[in-house]
Amino acid sequence: MDPDERILDPHEEPTPIPADPRDAPKPRVRRTHLSLFVRDPEASAPWYEDVLGMEVTARGPQWVFLSFGKKHHDIALIRAEDGAVTGGVGLQHYGLEVEGDLDEWRRLYGMLLAKGVPVVKTTDHKIGFGLYFTDPDGNRFEFFHETVTDDEEGKRILGLHGAPSDPVEIEPLRG
Ligand SMILES: [Fe+2]
Repeated sequence: MDPDERILDPHEEPTPIPADPRDAPKPRVRRTHLSLFVRDPEASAPWYEDVLGMEVTARGPQWVFLSFGKKHHDIALIRAEDGAVTGGVGLQHYGLEVEGDLDEWRRLYGMLLAKGVPVVKTTDHKIGFGLYFTDPDGNRFEFFHETVTDDEEGKRILGLHGAPSDPVEIEPLRG
């Protein structure tokens, strides 16, 4: 979280780097959140509530914070500058690894279609299936259904096949 993009005080002394790089501190990431530029956070927030099942936890004049239900925020929508466009360098997609079996994932597919959400593609990653779609600004998301739940086995298979992303046709379930 750093919506106001504060910068370090230029007079602040930098932390000395350890002589041996192996002694340098490593981040121990516990959880993650995503901050996303959108044209109008207040206009986009209802889509995040409706399609991703999120709840608004905080809002300011230039942002809306949303949660999947546990954390203070999982996604922050930040107002982009006027005329900003989606794409190019930057975020390609944000993957949401969803609970449930394949039929539940297929029902999410049906839900996206019923709500008129643009679905980009469905892919087979050998460790699961990806269902890609876009928010009102064209930011891409993925509902990821994991078929290999053992992480070590997942790494092995992904490496063995070169992280495949093969087109696959799976029928959506309606209702
Ligand atoms: Fe992904």
